[in-house]
Amino acid sequence: MSVEPVTLQQLPTDLNRNLLPQHVAVIMDGNGRWAKNRAKPRIIGHQKGVDALKDLLRCCKDWGIPALTAYAFSTENWGRPHSEVQFLMTLFERVLRRELQEMKQENVKIRFVGNLLDLPNSLRQEIDRSMEDTKNNQGIQFTVATNYGGRHEIIQACQAIATKVEQGYLKVAEINEEIFEQHLYTQGIPHPDLLIRTSGEMRISNFLLWQMAYAEIYVTTTLWPDFDRVEFHKALATYQRRERRFGKVK
Ligand code: FPP
Repeated sequence: MSVEPVTLQQLPTDLNRNLLPQHVAVIMDGNGRWAKNRAKPRIIGHQKGVDALKDLLRCCKDWGIPALTAYAFSTENWGRPHSEVQFLMTLFERVLRRELQEMKQENVKIRFVGNLLDLPNSLRQEIDRSMEDTKNNQGIQFTVATNYGGRHEIIQACQAIATKVEQGYLKVAEINEEIFEQHLYTQGIPHPDLLIRTSGEMRISNFLLWQMAYAEIYVTTTLWPDFDRVEFHKALATYQRRERRFGKVK
């Protein structure tokens, strides 16, 4: 039986291993258009999108990038047709059930961020199980933003902090960036260095608003299901050509 070789199995030689982003975040846009271009239902685009995400996760592992975060479902996505929302929820659940064993073996540490309480019970069970079963893994940190909204995340952090102040556990003067970050869903995960958005849209769409303060943004017109290692290589090469100053002068 012949196994199809994965192109760019190893880090391309023109990339500097020491200058790789330590955390890549992706807005996986364009699944619907990818399907429409092929006269297929949108859900086929989402299915292909899962394959693209799976290979990107493996690629990050192969190339030595320790953290990947994917925007799977925003708080605004509930406004899509009911059938598409339902399909996505079932897809997430099925993918988790199918891939968990392999993620465990590959030492992936999975974490879901967002308002998880509003997700269907059966999906929440798979989410809880995947996080529990991989919590001691030391390999790549894979974060999936599901029912995630950056504004919502910031408000819930403010509420949690205000409650601590009200109850006397914290003083107003003690609130700083470090304390604030401890109340975000992403607590303990480093900020993204690189945000990739596919399908040409130039927006961050309520994704990781706090965490993205100094992320480099890379937009490609490639639709998400077509985002492969060749495309990722281009994104990383562009990233490595950027000068990151963090507001300072070099
Ligand atoms: C955006 O394309 C894509 C989504 C809202 C869903 C993304 C979800 C996946 C790829 C599945 C991830 C699965 C797991 C388990 C993490 P769009 O529908 O907005 O495309 P369009 O802009 O062309 O309509």
